[in-house]
Amino acid sequence: MSPDCHVQRAIGRGRLCGVWLGVWVQAVPHALRRHTLKRRHADAGLMEGVTTMVVVVTGGAGFIGSHLVDALVEAGHGVHVIDNLSTGARENLHPRALLHTLDIRSAQVRDMLQDVKPEVVFHQAAQVDVSRSLQDPAQDASVNITGTVNLLHACATSGVRKFIYASSCAVYGDAGNALIGENDPVAPISFYGVSKLTPEAYLRVFAALHGLRFTILRYANVYGPRQTARGEGGVVALFLDRLKRGQPIAIHGDGEQTRDFVYVGDVVRANLAALYRGDEEMVNVSTARGTSVNQLAARLRNLHGSPIAVVNTPPRPGDIRHSRLDNTRARTVLGFAPHYGMEGGLAATYAHVIGRGEK
Ligand SMILES: NC(=O)c1ccc[n+]([C@@H]2O[C@H](COP(=O)([O-])OP(=O)(O)OC[C@H]3O[C@@H](n4cnc5c(N)ncnc54)[C@H](O)[C@@H]3O)[C@@H](O)[C@H]2O)c1
Repeated sequence: MSPDCHVQRAIGRGRLCGVWLGVWVQAVPHALRRHTLKRRHADAGLMEGVTTMVVVVTGGAGFIGSHLVDALVEAGHGVHVIDNLSTGARENLHPRALLHTLDIRSAQVRDMLQDVKPEVVFHQAAQVDVSRSLQDPAQDASVNITGTVNLLHACATSGVRKFIYASSCAVYGDAGNALIGENDPVAPISFYGVSKLTPEAYLRVFAALHGLRFTILRYANVYGPRQTARGEGGVVALFLDRLKRGQPIAIHGDGEQTRDFVYVGDVVRANLAALYRGDEEMVNVSTARGTSVNQLAARLRNLHGSPIAVVNTPPRPGDIRHSRLDNTRARTVLGFAPHYGMEGGLAATYAHVIGRGEK
């Protein structure tokens, strides 16, 4: 392990588990780890009855990444996280995951991967703010393109078997009200959309040249507990944050823009499925349903049980008018079907943020 790569063990009750996981991952031969984990895994009756592995989640202290880490740890996998904590938080991290506080652009990523020897890397880390990508396209490209290329190069030269990439509906741009399939043209309208799309092409070339397996998951607008108001899917988080503070919610434009809101638990399930399936595939992860921002506000009003003040602000540049993704391929390739509709997902998120306090 490089001297600068700090393995941050978790706080509180998880501290000891973190230490032991670290010692175990370092000391026990790979084959024996697999065997032991396989037994534990089968005993627990978790996930698909396959083996457990050592995996890396980049961006594992962030919104989606931290939920993915939780599920992977609970399934018995040895989970290492690469995160520079720029938008993520230590508190999000499962106590049994090991945090390596690193930037994905750093040369130390390769040392870390060669040390840890993960079978699979889930790449969630990114600059996710669409507005910021418009203000500072070079910074956006630096993290999302250069950072991903650095990570891919490190994976390809460190024996990583599979790379699971969190791409985005932003790659499609504004396709009208149509249901967008994976074969539809890509036409990003923000630099963020470009910087999420470009690594897909790099990934295919790394796969062809180095035999790295991959699955590309193009997420629709993800929402759920731990989301901050900053990211591209932040409207649910933003509205809930305002409600919590007793402030009016701001609707950009006429509020008739629609989004395909997919609950974070469903996105995690798509990632877990990609551990075992979907090699060399690119799939949308979505509900295939559109909800307008006005409809979202109305649903929140119902949940809240009291009137919500609304202010209308000008439309934001780079914002897509409609976005709704076909998920037929994810159903076929990954066996994926969303478990949460807007009602259930929003109720769960509301309960976390407002009902019982954020976790
Ligand atoms: N939230 C959505 O609606 C949505 C939709 C489509 C795609 N995605 C993609 O899903 C992934 C996760 O998004 P999220 O909403 O959880 O965002 P997030 O900001 O909560 O998580 C991103 C994580 O990456 C880390 N990170 C950022 N730059 C880094 C760097 N240079 N080096 C190391 N770590 C770095 C952050 O600290 C954070 O923990 C991203 O790749 C994003 O593009 C998100």
